[in-house]
Amino acid sequence: MKDIKDREIFSERIILEAGKLLLEFFEENLKIEKKGEIDLVTDADFASEKFLKEEIGKKFPEDGVLGEERGEINGNNEYLWIIDPLDGTVNFSHAYPFFSISIALQKHGDVVMGLVYDPIRNELFKGIKGEGGFLNGKRIKVSGIGRLIDSMLATGFPYDIHESKDDTLELFVRFVKSAQAVRRDGSAALDICYVAMGRFDGFWERRLKPWDTAAAKLILEESGGIVSDFSGGKYSIFGDEILCSNGKIHSEMIKILKG
Ligand code: IPD
Ligand code: CA
Ligand code: CA
Repeated sequence: MKDIKDREIFSERIILEAGKLLLEFFEENLKIEKKGEIDLVTDADFASEKFLKEEIGKKFPEDGVLGEERGEINGNNEYLWIIDPLDGTVNFSHAYPFFSISIALQKHGDVVMGLVYDPIRNELFKGIKGEGGFLNGKRIKVSGIGRLIDSMLATGFPYDIHESKDDTLELFVRFVKSAQAVRRDGSAALDICYVAMGRFDGFWERRLKPWDTAAAKLILEESGGIVSDFSGGKYSIFGDEILCSNGKIHSEMIKILKG
């Protein structure tokens, strides 16, 4: 337990510092590269990942680290950090103030700690396995809304949306017509944390990656929410579909996804 506590204190410090680093790039001239037609990476993503990997390497040299932009550093022990150095890069590159940093810690393949930080609002979400979900140190819980028609949902669109034959837009239309409101905010990690603390009641998306969901999934579960695939089955951070909710509207959301 002490090992995890040490890593918790340490990661709270480095995620706040990475947030400061991102703010230095925000609204400034960015170098923007394209990983795909609409999939971007900026010098802010690279700087944040480099900083986080170097800090982890100095303090816990035996731990593995998986980062979105520069891949995995293999470790020599049971710990693996999973990092999205900037979740919401498209927002960031347009100076739209909704983005985050996501850091999850796995022990023997299980996520035991998750942090998601929004430097614009100075909101730090945290989940510790078995201890609960927190926002800036205070316990959070999911909303009590019990009907889809009273719910505010969020979603995101995968980067292959232009060419994909998936029913992504059809699902969006169905939810728009059956919920109170649907938002598309552009940082999946923050969207899921918003379900954890009750700003949103549900969230769904396809083709997210482990660094988008690993931390936020734990934060949501520790705050009383549910995470599954689109049919209600077990969600894996390597899976293609994620459905998150306050638990109370989960089955209604599954019905909409089934069509
Ligand atoms: C993206 C954001 C976005 C989601 C995309 C993700 P990135 O992450 O989370 O909300 O819709 O699917 O890839 O590329 O900004 O780290
Ligand atoms: Ca991401
Ligand atoms: Ca990213």
